[in-house]
Amino acid sequence: MTTTSIDSLIAHDTSDMLGAVASLPAQLPDGLARANLLRTQVAERWAGDHGATPRTLVVCGMGGSGVGADLLPAAADVLAPVVAVKGYDLPGWVTDEDRVVCVSYSGATSETLSCFDQAVERSVVAAVITTGGELLARAEAAGVPAVVLPSGMQPRAAVGVIFGALAGVADALGVIEDVATVVEECVAGATLVVDEHLGTGPEHGGEAPPALDFARRLHDHAIVVSGASHTEAVAHRWKAQVNENGKVPCFASAYPELCHNELVGWEFAGATGARWALVELLPFAASEAIRARFDIVRSLIADSIDLDLRFEPRASTRAGATFEQLVWGDYVSIYLALLRGIDPTPVERIHALKAQLAGR
Ligand code: F6R
Repeated sequence: MTTTSIDSLIAHDTSDMLGAVASLPAQLPDGLARANLLRTQVAERWAGDHGATPRTLVVCGMGGSGVGADLLPAAADVLAPVVAVKGYDLPGWVTDEDRVVCVSYSGATSETLSCFDQAVERSVVAAVITTGGELLARAEAAGVPAVVLPSGMQPRAAVGVIFGALAGVADALGVIEDVATVVEECVAGATLVVDEHLGTGPEHGGEAPPALDFARRLHDHAIVVSGASHTEAVAHRWKAQVNENGKVPCFASAYPELCHNELVGWEFAGATGARWALVELLPFAASEAIRARFDIVRSLIADSIDLDLRFEPRASTRAGATFEQLVWGDYVSIYLALLRGIDPTPVERIHALKAQLAGR
């Protein structure tokens, strides 16, 4: 690919979503540092008083702000279940044995505000993570510690700072241990892919970035992303990024569950008229049983799919592999937009929906 053709593709990235992905390794420790500013406050008020790890950590947040809840138990060994709430209501079982963290980048998301109010009523909210808005105002009014994020990004592009902040709060609450190491490992995994991406391209001998090659192959396919164990969360991140950056449908599923349903669904995939592509996210230290399932399913559905891309993690830890595979997906999803000649950043339909809801 020539310098000019890569440049003309990148010209569509007017808000620099590629730059936001490259900033991910720096975002992670930044998020942790921001949470650490409140460490004593969070720990003394919530963990210190009770002196124990809570029964569960409930993390309320939607879209790009909610993904941290999925990634935390994927990347770190958790000492209590982390329950993601992606909706208006806290489950009825949440009591003062549990801790709630509400995450909204804008601070304006109605589902998260609703959960925050319910958590305050039940006296279970440990912290909020936000750039400001109504969530920060309500947290300040209720005396709830607030980790304040840097503003000016798309929420989904702030995944590093959101994850670092949530990991810091989880550590202060006794839900994970040795957060500094977890974050370092995530940085190492993200850096692998970011460095590889920045090391390619015209200024480095004209080679196209590997993520662009993958996006070229995936372009105009219906994409299914499959993960297993910790890469299940990453498969869902890929799906959301292909939706929000690439502006096309995408589906996520997980082994071994998919062997009991989706596998059969591939039989008449061709009848949909779509060209199907399968993206396989092998987990870190995949067991023989899981690896065998990936292989056997691939061979059973070979006639139904047009393309099969397998990503084997190279990072040396589970946390690293989580962020390595995540950054891959972020880059690929951006190139899917650029190949279509569109800007990956705007999510006009989300804004239209929120505006229409506000008018009701
Ligand atoms: C946009 C994005 C969305 C938002 C979601 C919730 O980049 O990622 O998925 O994250 O609409 O909004 P916030 O994050 O502001 O609570």
